[in-house]
Amino acid sequence: MKKIQIAVDGPASSGKSTVAKIVARDLDLIYLDTGAMYRVATLVAMQEQTQDPQVIINFIEENPISFANGPKGQEVFLGERNVTDVIRTNEVTNAVSKISAMPEIRSFLVAEQQRIAKEGGIIMDGRDIGTVVLPNAELKIFLVASVEERAERRYKENRSKGIPTDLERLKSEIAARDHKDSTRKVSPLKQAEDAVLLDSTGKSIADVVAFIETRAKRLI
Ligand code: DC
Repeated sequence: MKKIQIAVDGPASSGKSTVAKIVARDLDLIYLDTGAMYRVATLVAMQEQTQDPQVIINFIEENPISFANGPKGQEVFLGERNVTDVIRTNEVTNAVSKISAMPEIRSFLVAEQQRIAKEGGIIMDGRDIGTVVLPNAELKIFLVASVEERAERRYKENRSKGIPTDLERLKSEIAARDHKDSTRKVSPLKQAEDAVLLDSTGKSIADVVAFIETRAKRLI
């Protein structure tokens, strides 16, 4: 069986991680959530009260980011500390665009992502996977959905977790993050020329997974 690399890029809350996790399980691939790595860098910036990329990088070098499978799915660690939940808080979400726009942070994390992907057999989701991190990936998917649908998905998810949420506010936060991620100077969110565009508006998770797996199976 050929060890392929699959890149899944797209805007915030387009369902990338949900479908990538399922495809990873079905096709026996490693799943790497690169957004989680930028979230960890943001958490470090907030806790160390710094905007200096080198201070953030030094901290992560001393306390490396790692992933492990736990009872609730993939868990994220900063050194020994489990940061799975804290990196998903609104404070981190609303600060992440600024930290992920820092070129030093990006080259540090991209090198780490490329190291993990070297052996192949991986599906990675993010914003710049098909364009920068894995330009030679055998399959590239650019997953989009309307702002309304993405906000509604997040709204339902938050409600099911008992997190009070305002739908209109979610819509404007998602649109703001899209704008920041697409217009930043370094590695903006952009569809790779050889990526397949997949609009998941109105589609089920199963439909999106089937679309990706059908294409992946042709390459394995
Ligand atoms: O996928 P996510 O929402 O967890 O990503 C968090 C942020 O990290 C997102 O606003 C943009 C940034 N990001 C990035 O710049 N490059 C990536 N490869 C992944 C995420």
